[in-house]
Amino acid sequence: MQAFTNADMSDKGATKPGFAISAWPDTRDILARLYDLANKEPVLAIKREQMERYLGYFEHKCIKSKSMTSAAMELIPGGVQHNLAFNHPFPLAIKKAEAAYLWDVDGNRYIDFLQAGGPTVLGSNYAPVQEKVIELIRECGPVTGLFHEYELKLAEIINHYMPSVEVFRMLATGTEAVMGAIRAARTFTGKAKVIKMGGAYHGWSDQMVFGMRIPGIGALESHGIPAGCYEHTQECFPNDIEALAAMLKNNEAQGGTAAVILEPLGPESGTRPVIYEFNACVRKLCDEYGTLLIFDEVVTGFRMGLGGAQGFFGVKPDLTVFGKCVAGGYPAAGGVGGRRDVMQCFAAGLQGLKKRAMVGGTLSANPLSCAAGYFSIKAMAETDAPIKAGKAGDRLTAGLKEIIKRRDLPFVAFNHGSICHLETAAAMLMDINNPKIFTEVSERKHVMEEMGAAFTAEGIISLAGSRLYTSMADSDAVIDDALDRFDRVLGSVEKKK
Ligand SMILES: Cc1ncc(COP(=O)(O)O)c(C=O)c1O
Repeated sequence: MQAFTNADMSDKGATKPGFAISAWPDTRDILARLYDLANKEPVLAIKREQMERYLGYFEHKCIKSKSMTSAAMELIPGGVQHNLAFNHPFPLAIKKAEAAYLWDVDGNRYIDFLQAGGPTVLGSNYAPVQEKVIELIRECGPVTGLFHEYELKLAEIINHYMPSVEVFRMLATGTEAVMGAIRAARTFTGKAKVIKMGGAYHGWSDQMVFGMRIPGIGALESHGIPAGCYEHTQECFPNDIEALAAMLKNNEAQGGTAAVILEPLGPESGTRPVIYEFNACVRKLCDEYGTLLIFDEVVTGFRMGLGGAQGFFGVKPDLTVFGKCVAGGYPAAGGVGGRRDVMQCFAAGLQGLKKRAMVGGTLSANPLSCAAGYFSIKAMAETDAPIKAGKAGDRLTAGLKEIIKRRDLPFVAFNHGSICHLETAAAMLMDINNPKIFTEVSERKHVMEEMGAAFTAEGIISLAGSRLYTSMADSDAVIDDALDRFDRVLGSVEKKK
């Protein structure tokens, strides 16, 4: 039976020692303010003449980057290999990374709130891990194709901090890990349907390029993917436990649901934040319907604390998907772990007629990635990196909130530890039910891109102008310096009369 209604779900989150969230934010209040920003407030951009000055920075100070990345336009589709690097007005070419800073090929220094998209909780290029990796490469090179001790050590340390991961299979990316988890869930349950939360990104496999970025968008972004590939993928609006319960119930007549997959903080690393009790409610529903619960902890795994978001929420998933931090910011970073009985479907070798979920990857679980992951997680435990990074996130967010208030802007800043959000254009927070969605989304996206460019010109690298990852390297001095820079950008926003 349905355990909760949406209104029943409590948002009272307890803080826990060992986790990066020092106080659970008021999610319903954040959601209401995000809704207003996306649906009611006018789109506010930086004053044109100031924006021209910011764009001038790129023309005059980033000459080598411009020439290198224009040459790349000829040989690389879109000029960059990953959308994280696709920044307005052109991508920067980075030469050096260390702790809280990045340097581009023109010698400009930036405070790094991208942190490679999340994995480097210790700060960029953390020297003690780098030394261990170099030692390993000297000894055996990055890969041999055969078993290496660090595969065991990595599985042991993950199991130690995340006991739900009884067995761990290393893969090369988060995308592959999601594919593996879904395949295992289908093999184990014998059911086909998979439910994800609308707006969430779970990698780019055929079945998951569905309901991405904007809840309710379904297959609109699924170019090049035959409809049959996502025939069994369904999306549910975030935090809508009643809709999820109804979907699971309806699916019973169609063979049932193999898995619900979700990011425990909410889609896009909590861009649409989760109501605290949602995960526990989903767990109950999954148990009721014989459906596996998959936590995508690609971002939260170790960043939220060594026990992951699952440790923070006290909710045990059947399977957990890893990426990013699992190799400490080194390639290749991916893996799936969880219940022994489910994970056995990945067992390699001949198993008679037993059901097997095929996974592969010639360079997966190479000694380099496993050593980098093992030493990074160990260093994170020894240094308390997730907590320190979380404190930096708290300081940054408190400062951003103060600027927003003082300058009387409708923008929204909030954080879950070291994952911070600064929503100015709410481009990713529109809803399929909003009639302005198709007319306004590209304007909002452009305003957000310009905001990102302005931050860069002021010496700050962000994730697409709206997300900021902090690391252990972000001292109070680094954060305070960053806040002065943010203040200059936000002070140049044109207010509507
Ligand atoms: C929540 C989540 N899941 C899956 C992925 C895919 O991981 P990868 O980029 O390693 O394929 C990402 C990547 O950003 C992610 O944020």
